[in-house]
Amino acid sequence: MRMMNTDLRAEPAATATENLPAVELRGVRRTYGKHGTAVNALDGVSTRFPDAGWTAVMGPSGSGKSTLLHAAAGLESVTSGEVLLAGTDITAASDEELTSLRRDTIGFVFQNFNLIGSLTAEQNVALPLRLGGQRVSTRDARDVLASVGLADRSRHRPRELSGGQRQRVAIARAMITRPAVLFADEPTGALDSSSAKSVLALLRDMVDTSGQSIVMVTHDPAAAAWADSVLFLSDGRIVDHAHSPTAPGVAERLAALEV
Ligand SMILES: Nc1ncnc2c1ncn2[C@@H]1O[C@H](COP(=O)(O)OP(=O)(O)OP(=O)(O)O)[C@@H](O)[C@H]1O
Ligand SMILES: [Mg+2]
Repeated sequence: MRMMNTDLRAEPAATATENLPAVELRGVRRTYGKHGTAVNALDGVSTRFPDAGWTAVMGPSGSGKSTLLHAAAGLESVTSGEVLLAGTDITAASDEELTSLRRDTIGFVFQNFNLIGSLTAEQNVALPLRLGGQRVSTRDARDVLASVGLADRSRHRPRELSGGQRQRVAIARAMITRPAVLFADEPTGALDSSSAKSVLALLRDMVDTSGQSIVMVTHDPAAAAWADSVLFLSDGRIVDHAHSPTAPGVAERLAALEV
């Protein structure tokens, strides 16, 4: 659900969206549990994830990375604060609005692919649209598979694909609704380094050629170095933000947070 440029002056469509972040968090808190044992998974997080940009989210285990991703994607409610997804405050949205917003605006990719084993690649890819009540032609699903380099694997089932290929099917499935933001939680966590590289190169290409907005959690400094910037979390707070990251620079910052 991208904002359209309604300005009638002859300007490129991108101008209207440049200042509007794809996702914005304002003072977001997420507390789990009750008084004595309460955990502040997110402890007042404010940030903007840009349109046409790739942000990596890093931090020690338990620092709130997955909680941040789920809150930003509207998959989990927040205790306080605001989450603006493509300009809409999702913390104020009804369940119905939230369901359609999630379906149309976000894509989500998981570490362990979460493909359905009994369905072919093209059936897996078509699933989000089918679940949304839309008819999908086989051709649409195949086109998206072709865009992730799997034109010749559309009739294969997940067990007949390599890990990197499975993750590319999962990315195709997330992209079929043309989401404003693609969220990925450790998308290369289960892959060997060469499969990881093919997935990261695909994500990079989506940002560079289509202006996709991507938010990716990773533990791997080499993966984070493919992104445009890196957010560092510690104890539910943003403690640093690096632009044009390098793997050694990211590794050093992370090591300092982990002590
Ligand atoms: N459903 C839940 N109930 C209670 N506590 C939770 C729940 N989910 C997360 N937490 C707590 O919130 C904190 C942040 O968890 P989160 O999963 O966001 O961390 P993370 O940075 O993604 O960690 P990892 O790198 O291990 O995946 C942790 O202390 C965790 O124990
Ligand atoms: Mg996590």
